Amino acid sequence: MSPLNRFTSIKMKLGALVVAAVCITVLFTWAGVKVGVWPSVSGAVSGLIAIVMVRVLARGLTKPLREMASAADAMARGDYERRVTATSRDEIGALARAFNKMAAELAETDRVRRDLVANVSHELRTPITALQAGLENLVDGVEPPDPQTLRTMLTQVERLGRLVTQLLDLSRLESGTVPLDRQDFAVRPLLEHAVREAQLHAPSVTMVVDVDSPDLAADGDPERVHQVVANLLENAVRYTPTAGRVDVIARRTRDGVRIEVCDEGPGIPEAEVDRVFERFYRADQARASGNGGAGLGLAIAQWIVELHGGRIHPERRQPHGCRMVVTLPRARRPFVTEPVHA
Ligand SMILES: Nc1ncnc2c1ncn2[C@@H]1O[C@H](COP(=O)(O)OP(=O)(O)OP(=O)(O)O)[C@@H](O)[C@H]1O
Ligand SMILES: [Mg+2]
Repeated sequence: MSPLNRFTSIKMKLGALVVAAVCITVLFTWAGVKVGVWPSVSGAVSGLIAIVMVRVLARGLTKPLREMASAADAMARGDYERRVTATSRDEIGALARAFNKMAAELAETDRVRRDLVANVSHELRTPITALQAGLENLVDGVEPPDPQTLRTMLTQVERLGRLVTQLLDLSRLESGTVPLDRQDFAVRPLLEHAVREAQLHAPSVTMVVDVDSPDLAADGDPERVHQVVANLLENAVRYTPTAGRVDVIARRTRDGVRIEVCDEGPGIPEAEVDRVFERFYRADQARASGNGGAGLGLAIAQWIVELHGGRIHPERRQPHGCRMVVTLPRARRPFVTEPVHA
């Protein structure tokens, strides 16, 4: 450890260097004169010794700066693993620690970006491969262009379109390019509309809307909240057994509105509760069944809810099932408009 490291500011270190240089020069000049060396010679020699000593100590002082310059170069080339020595207690030490923190955050961002690219490529490749195979069969005459084959291909195109829409949504939400159109809106019509839409895709599932008061209102962007409820209903329907039941409940709470989407499926295992909100995460069960989407629905829902200042979390139901709970801020005015749906 450099002797300068005990100082806590660069100003003090530079002061110490100057004092040390002056002391050495004076001391050696005086010693030289004492042993009979000419003052000009002993002065020059002691000045040289002082310069060498200052250079050695100053090297230690600027070492983290040189390391940072070289680490920044490495980062520019995509290597985020380099860290710099951050032992000194002065401003350079603080800068080195901030640099290391920034490097760690950049490494994490880079990892997330790589994962994202890998996941997106994987999710895009699956329907594209299926489509390509289908089209090749049609072109080669292996399969006739009957409605069944064309429907299978249409499903893949729809899957691709949905994935691209979800990715665009997520990227717009994350970058904040689509501001929320916040207003007070009535909760019941919004939930009923979302349920009617979900029911079209799952006629065998019973869906019940239960809102504690007809004028229950929340503060938010109705279109975005509708998107959240639609995503939750899609999951609920996906995991509820045929002829099962999905309940959509809304209650006034002390500081907002609580919306629950409850299903009779297997529920989300305790260990996966936090991970299901990650992009492209699908619980093992969902992945194994091959049933389902890309794992983006809950990530989008969480972004939207958090942009509103609300919260979203799953709870386990007894004996089995999932209760997805969303809390939103309460309406600011007592009179509200009905949400407008496209
Ligand atoms: N109601 C539920 N019951 C059981 N598991 C659920 C439920 N909702 C979500 N999950 C689990 O959380 C995972 C992530 O859900 P999410 O909605 O983000 O993705 P997905 O439904 O698989 O795909 P996408 O929504 O993109 O079509 C699901 O794959 C599933 O494992
Ligand atoms: Mg989903």
